[in-house]
Amino acid sequence: MTASPILQQPAIDSRLSGQALLYQFSNTMFSTIRLNKLTHLILTALTAPSSKLFERSILFLCNDKSEVLQGMLGVTRQTSSEGLLIIGDQNALGSRWDISEELVAKQRSDEFSALVRRSRIEINSGCPLVRQVVTERTLSHIECSICNNCKTCCFIRQICCNSFAAVPLTARDKTIGMIVVDNPESGRPITQDELYFLQLLANQAGMAIENSILYNKVEDANTNLREARERLLHGEKLAAIGEMAANLAHELKNPLITIGGFAGRLLKSLPEETREHHYADTIAAEVKRLDRMIADILGFSRKPTICFSKCDLTEVVQSSIACCTTALEDSGVTLTTSIADGPWLLHGDAYQLKQVFLNLILNACDAMSGGGQLSISIRKSSPKDNSAIVEIKDTGKGIPKDVLPRIFSPFFTTKQHGTGLGLAIANRIAINHYGSIEAENCEDGASFKVRLPLAALD
Ligand SMILES: Nc1ncnc2c1ncn2[C@@H]1O[C@H](COP(=O)(O)OP(=O)(O)OP(=O)(O)O)[C@@H](O)[C@H]1O
Ligand SMILES: [Mg+2]
Repeated sequence: MTASPILQQPAIDSRLSGQALLYQFSNTMFSTIRLNKLTHLILTALTAPSSKLFERSILFLCNDKSEVLQGMLGVTRQTSSEGLLIIGDQNALGSRWDISEELVAKQRSDEFSALVRRSRIEINSGCPLVRQVVTERTLSHIECSICNNCKTCCFIRQICCNSFAAVPLTARDKTIGMIVVDNPESGRPITQDELYFLQLLANQAGMAIENSILYNKVEDANTNLREARERLLHGEKLAAIGEMAANLAHELKNPLITIGGFAGRLLKSLPEETREHHYADTIAAEVKRLDRMIADILGFSRKPTICFSKCDLTEVVQSSIACCTTALEDSGVTLTTSIADGPWLLHGDAYQLKQVFLNLILNACDAMSGGGQLSISIRKSSPKDNSAIVEIKDTGKGIPKDVLPRIFSPFFTTKQHGTGLGLAIANRIAINHYGSIEAENCEDGASFKVRLPLAALD
């Protein structure tokens, strides 16, 4: 069915002009390392009226993982006729072609190219044509019809006319793709000289495409490396800031105890309703606030020890709510809870998990200082995933778009008296419990979803 022609060397005249053309091709292929431009250049040069070769060319690249030939690009005489630019003196050997970005875009959006891109040919489907080109790595020239019962041939017949040639693209002893060419407009058969030329060109194109793919991989790896380095530096910076803050907090703790102690004594000795009593009261209150801040900073910078034991999530959530009663009342917040049928047992540190919900509820109260509605629910994350979702949803002011990506960063706060550690601590505790916290804005406020893996049922 498929023919693998013994390619004769062309006559000397056409060989010379062919070699000049090949040289021009080679200059062109090594003029860019960008895969997209390279593939357009190769197919355009094959179909451009000036090269007088083929009327259509199609590129397939092998996907090793899925073992398919994936259609990448199809170029027709129409989409290659305008815009093949000659760089350098056309008659000199050093000249090459180039194409504009507009032409690249036009060729990509062309209907024929879109049809090619939707095509996938299975490499191991048993099709003799694919076997010959991809496995045996030889050029295949089909002159009349191809087999009628193979899916691949049917597909190729759909996009190619009766006479076409398919040539493998090889690099480093491996097939990386295939180029298919035909002349559907004129129906002109493909000549031996053209096949010879196509084979020579495909050898160079294979290497150029492989180089470009490797270069792209190196570039991707480089970008990933740079990003990882930046993340590491950022992490180191945060660690250094954390250590500094922890040292400072530690140094401040002792003088604060003294100030707080004396303020307490003054409070007791000064008569109420006096200005001095009010001053001492303010000092004592501020010392308490600073003390809480310091405890937070020290808590964050210390490596936490987690005491895992079986605990009931419902009890943890309810005791967190109980601790926030005053804060809820002070802010005029009404609370609704909805707990789906359990059991909600998990392996965790109840004390630390309570910290998570306390921080989230207190943040919600802060966001609804003028009153609002707080909804807390416990439900299963999905039938497949044995995790619980505790959602804490408020009707506060929501989280501004530019603030949202930063709220879990340590020391990030938009509050006058906040330390910016609440969410960082909560997030770290959730991660230590193999869970996560997601924040988003909902219809009229913010929602925080805490996902925690549940214990397997005995
Ligand atoms: N429910 C919420 N609604 C709107 N913004 C919120 C909400 N929860 C958190 N935020 C935003 O995230 C920021 C960080 O919160 P986080 O709890 O880490 O620190 P904080 O509340 O500012 O200070 P503290 O350390 O006292 O908790 C807040 O300053 C606030 O801008
Ligand atoms: Mg907070």
